[in-house]
Amino acid sequence: ATGRFTYDSGFTATASCKSAITYIDGDEGVLLYRGYPIEQLAEHSNFLEVAYLLMNGELPDAKQFASFEHDVTHHTMMHEAFKSFIGGFRHDAHPMAMLVGMLGSMASFYHNDLDYDDPEQRRLAGIRLIAKLPTIAAACYRYSMGWPLSYPRNELGYVERFLHMMFELPSGPLELSPVAAKAMDLLFILHADHEQNASTSTVRLVGSTGANPYACIASGVAALWGPAHGGANEAVLKMLAEIGDVKNVQSAVDRAKDKESGFRLMGFGHRVYKNFDPRAKIIREMTHKVLGELGIDDPMLDIAMRLEEAALKDDYFVQRKLYPNVDFYSGIIYKALKIPTEMFTVMFAIARTAGWVSHWLEQQEDPEFKIGRPRQIYTGAESRDYMATDKR
Ligand code: SDX
Repeated sequence: ATGRFTYDSGFTATASCKSAITYIDGDEGVLLYRGYPIEQLAEHSNFLEVAYLLMNGELPDAKQFASFEHDVTHHTMMHEAFKSFIGGFRHDAHPMAMLVGMLGSMASFYHNDLDYDDPEQRRLAGIRLIAKLPTIAAACYRYSMGWPLSYPRNELGYVERFLHMMFELPSGPLELSPVAAKAMDLLFILHADHEQNASTSTVRLVGSTGANPYACIASGVAALWGPAHGGANEAVLKMLAEIGDVKNVQSAVDRAKDKESGFRLMGFGHRVYKNFDPRAKIIREMTHKVLGELGIDDPMLDIAMRLEEAALKDDYFVQRKLYPNVDFYSGIIYKALKIPTEMFTVMFAIARTAGWVSHWLEQQEDPEFKIGRPRQIYTGAESRDYMATDKR
């Protein structure tokens, strides 16, 4: 109620905002989207319905969902000029670098025709972003592969359309795997929102200046890229590959305990969860199911499971309440779905756009909201007089 938090270190912080979108209880491992437990949404819902829920606060009835799905489906195309824009990147550019650039540039294509003081037009901007992220993401991948860009197919569902844009080739029809589509949809649900994480706080801070929504979401993508945040899923796969064999697991755990090593177990720990990240539990079970259904026997899964087992028995991790987080297993599923490692954080960005848009809308609709202006604890020099160069 006071809006003030005291961290384990004794440091107190003031809540950055009020929000009704997502609730997390880090000690109990609880995650609610608009009051609905993530476990129930994972079992019964789909990503587009969750995006509606996050944006509007209630689950849609059939008519509302059909209208929302129609609006998203009819805003998936990108301006044709994007083709020359994307052609300006180096062929080996990291897709997150391309995504930041292309999202920021969306303002030059779509910013001028909307009045953000109108709630309906703000929602349209949000729908445009949710609709176009998969198209842009697939374009980043195809450009890096030297493939021709692919156009969204409106007869497909949100995730199927994305997978089709990612992998279809002019040489022939793509057979979409229902297992892959269901797995991707579930991963999108689990990554859709997470309260005031670094990237969402960035979106809200940029939004508080009145910047356009495309610039806000571009800033969220930039923040997400860091390996301490959304970039962790890519870093987990690199860590598992570096460990290479279950016999090296214990030495990796020991290295992560040695501060001098600078090595951390990627996919472990969380600023808020001091218990299991509920998303990690769902993804771990899903990993076994998806790899089983796809008939994939990935040694990285064995390494990950042994790493989790070893860390959860180790006092260093137990005392610091370090558990697997959402990023620990997700990369193994993305790998099974043939998503390349450098695209993992782009997957996170597609899903989190639903949350970022919802927070931007919530903020824009809050009559009390003002420009964000975090303060600091000043540790610099006392006031002092200027000295001429020859006196220094
Ligand atoms: C995401 O905020 C969100 O909600 C984010 C997210 C979302 O959905 O938006 O959940 C997504 O970003 C998940 C986090 C992904 N990042 C990683 O998996 C990177 C590896 N994890 C860490 O770097 C770390 O755990 C953080 C960044 C997540 C949290 O870092 P903190 O704030 O330093 O963790 P802490 O204060 O809880 O650390 C307590 C102690 C420290 O040691 P001591 O100084 O007490 O001796 O635990 C140590 C840390 O050094 N520690 C780790 C560790 N994480 C923390 N030691 C080894 N391996 C780790 N992974």
